[in-house]
Amino acid sequence: MSDIFDVAVIGAGPGGYIAAIRAAQLGLSVACVDDWTREGGKPAPGGTCTNVGCIPSKALLQSSEHYAHAAHAFRDHGIDVTGLSIDVARMLARKDRVVAQNNDGIAFLFRKHKIRFLHGRGSFAGGNAKDGWTLAVEGADRTEIVARHVIVATGSKPRPLPGVPFDNDRVLDNAGALAIASVPATLGVVGAGVIGLEMGSVWRRLGADVTILEALPAFLGAADEAVAREARKAFARQGLAIHLGVSIAEVTPARDAVAVAWKDERGEAQTATFERLIVAIGRVPNTDGLGAEAVGLTVDERGFVAVDGECRTNLPQVWAVGDVVRGPMLAHKAEEEGVAVAERIAGGHGHVDFDTVPWVIYTSPEIAWVGRTEQQLRADGVAYRSGSFPFSANGRARALGDTTGFVKILADAKTDRILGMHVVGPYASELIAEGVVAMEFGASSEDIARICHAHPSLSEATKEAALAVDKRTLNL
Ligand code: FAD
Ligand code: NAI
Repeated sequence: MSDIFDVAVIGAGPGGYIAAIRAAQLGLSVACVDDWTREGGKPAPGGTCTNVGCIPSKALLQSSEHYAHAAHAFRDHGIDVTGLSIDVARMLARKDRVVAQNNDGIAFLFRKHKIRFLHGRGSFAGGNAKDGWTLAVEGADRTEIVARHVIVATGSKPRPLPGVPFDNDRVLDNAGALAIASVPATLGVVGAGVIGLEMGSVWRRLGADVTILEALPAFLGAADEAVAREARKAFARQGLAIHLGVSIAEVTPARDAVAVAWKDERGEAQTATFERLIVAIGRVPNTDGLGAEAVGLTVDERGFVAVDGECRTNLPQVWAVGDVVRGPMLAHKAEEEGVAVAERIAGGHGHVDFDTVPWVIYTSPEIAWVGRTEQQLRADGVAYRSGSFPFSANGRARALGDTTGFVKILADAKTDRILGMHVVGPYASELIAEGVVAMEFGASSEDIARICHAHPSLSEATKEAALAVDKRTLNL
């Protein structure tokens, strides 16, 4: 007889494992099935985020930033470094240790919350809402389980260029980009999106000659225009060559290099040969082998599991969260949905505010925003006031030696309610939290301007940007 659970979660990425923990906290019996495997055959819970996404990319961004600081910034502090070198193998081994710590942390949390973890591939094998849904698990923990509720959290996978499969030798997806064994002399990147910019930055800082080829004519179209302009200038200074309006014609991998032919924005043919090529042109939802058809689970034309605003699928008591459903492919969005679904299953009122999901790009300068951009507000016909404050006028930024960028706050012209916050500069990833809190509490720019911010701190730039909305900055 199959084991019966209140909730079965398919996928142990940030959407799935967090949903499992919250459901267990609420007193439900929970199983979580995940197929990610580390060397030696051990499970590696945490999904894309932990294994080949957020965590390892931030580990490499940190290592490469230390290297760049030692090479370029230390001198100004009176620190001379001679014989600076990078041991890529050691850097990658550290990254792998950071990943393993996170895998082990999640495995510990499963034990702590008495969640039954099953290592293997889960698929729908039948059932219904009344008797429970039956899931088959194939792999190390081969079994069959029955669950009253199922949460699909199967995530996403990289999208290849048509006709150019990833070989993770010359043509790299995100996993390959995080595991290049030595600094390539030349690195091509297709796609100036989040992965392209983060991974391009890692290898540029370590000395690679990086060329980024982007299809769209505008750089970072989702970001506020002024932020995108400032970031582009900084990336150019770092030597990242970014070509916009590119149409890739041909990619030809060979033994030692990969040749790329493209048309530039003027329609002229261009070619280049790179030691490695990262292709980061977006991701596609992961529903292969899920058995959706066995139970009639609706998957839309782009492969996403179709859900309503509360993550309900077309099947009663079957839910889906994270990258496998509509909305931004972000770990914190997946987590919020996972918590909300667990709470709904337990009879509560889970809630996700999609208007305040922050975006962060962990380049140097970091880029972060929440809410609407100036161009969106103009397009929506919203009357707004804008206030900006540059880090060049912030004491902490000067002491840090990193004065690139600014904080911008956009507020409704009539009510002063904050509609967006945009940061490009040091620790933008941390500063943005104040904007999220402010927007969640319906704060005005005046509210931020009246709050005491520690001195000297980067957060004073946020207060000054709020003051700037009313044209009364104190330090500019
Ligand atoms: P996933 O993390 O993809 O997890 C899904 C899990 O389900 C996987 O373990 C998968 O193997 C498993 N699975 C799939 N099908 C089955 C099945 N049938 N049976 C069993 N298991 C199955 N987001 C951020 O917010 N911040 C960042 O800094 C960030 N950096 C990123 C960097 C890179 C290089 C990449 C690629 C992504 C990054 N992301 C980042 C995005 C983030 O990783 C995803 O949004 C997040 O992982 C989505 O979580 P998820 O739980 O929906 O899916
Ligand atoms: P992306 O959507 O961020 O960027 C893809 C880029 O490729 C876009 O600019 C697009 O115009 C371009 N593109 C598409 N087709 C192309 C083609 N044929 N030729 C040239 N350019 C082309 O996707 P990316 O970078 O692959 O990342 C996937 C997702 O992972 C992101 O959307 C994000 O949700 C998540 N992520 C989040 C991170 C973070 O939060 N810091 C870090 C990395 C990834």
